[in-house]
Amino acid sequence: MPKPRVLATRPLFPAAQQILNAGCEVEYWTKPERISKEELLGRVKEKEGLVCLLTEKIGEELLRAAPKLRIAANVAVGFDNIDVPACTKRGVVATNTPGVLDETTADFAWTLLMAVARRLGEGEQLARSGNWKGWDLDQLVGADVWGKTLGLVGFGRIGRAVARRAAGFQMKVLYSDAIRAPLDVEKDAKAEYRDFNTLLAESDFVSVHVPLLEDTRGLFDGAKFSRMKASAFLINTSRGPVVDEAALVHALESGKIAGAALDVYENEPFIHPGLKRPNVVLAPHIASASMETRTKMACMAAENVVALFKGQRPPNMLNPEVLKAK
Ligand code: DGY
Repeated sequence: MPKPRVLATRPLFPAAQQILNAGCEVEYWTKPERISKEELLGRVKEKEGLVCLLTEKIGEELLRAAPKLRIAANVAVGFDNIDVPACTKRGVVATNTPGVLDETTADFAWTLLMAVARRLGEGEQLARSGNWKGWDLDQLVGADVWGKTLGLVGFGRIGRAVARRAAGFQMKVLYSDAIRAPLDVEKDAKAEYRDFNTLLAESDFVSVHVPLLEDTRGLFDGAKFSRMKASAFLINTSRGPVVDEAALVHALESGKIAGAALDVYENEPFIHPGLKRPNVVLAPHIASASMETRTKMACMAAENVVALFKGQRPPNMLNPEVLKAK
């Protein structure tokens, strides 16, 4: 029996290749530059499986170009790049990589939070510049983190992992979410529920952990920034379009908030020039980028593909109804 043909839009990691190669005939995109849309549409044509990244759009156009496709396995937990209903309509299973990146992403939300509060970006630049004249009393004084109030917008797995870390900093933790968490979860994370506006008004650090959905797109607009303390910082490791970047720039310029630390952007890889300010820490979408976690993510995507072709249920299906229908 010929093995199912699969396209992987990156070489992945050796551990993931091993999983995928055992069950499939895999074409890996190995060029240093990203696969272009044209190349992707051309190469996916005869494929039954696709391992893709969040930078690739899996929608009608790709699905039309890939009539044999049975699975699109995203190497990411966020799946706003995949038109899941369109996949379902065509009987294509869509999968993601939940769970494995929570702690790593939470670590990075804290990395950003600490960096912006303590002006690490500016300090690093000064230390490397050759212009540092030595210790001074008021040099690069930032904001304390310990003992402050942390507001988590979105209290899923990653938000909760961020909350757990706050205990070491003796912080008060607030959260808002569409659905209030069970009391034992609140107790465990030592987090108190607030409605969104109250959370914005009470928090010194607001960290965003919601998925990109129709009702979270542009969630942080001018009105929301006006509700925040002038001394507060915004941290975003979720998805860029959750924040209206023009409104954020305005809030920073007018002193409505004290600063921001961002890993994600509205139109990646473009970064609004107004964000390139000393009180903004910028990272290039690397919150989950530890070798351990990225390897696990790639392996998980590979396992989803292999499971389907073995006649099993892929463990991380976004549209389980595709298999139920058969
Ligand atoms: C995801 O998985 O959605 C992140 O943005 C990349 O790890």
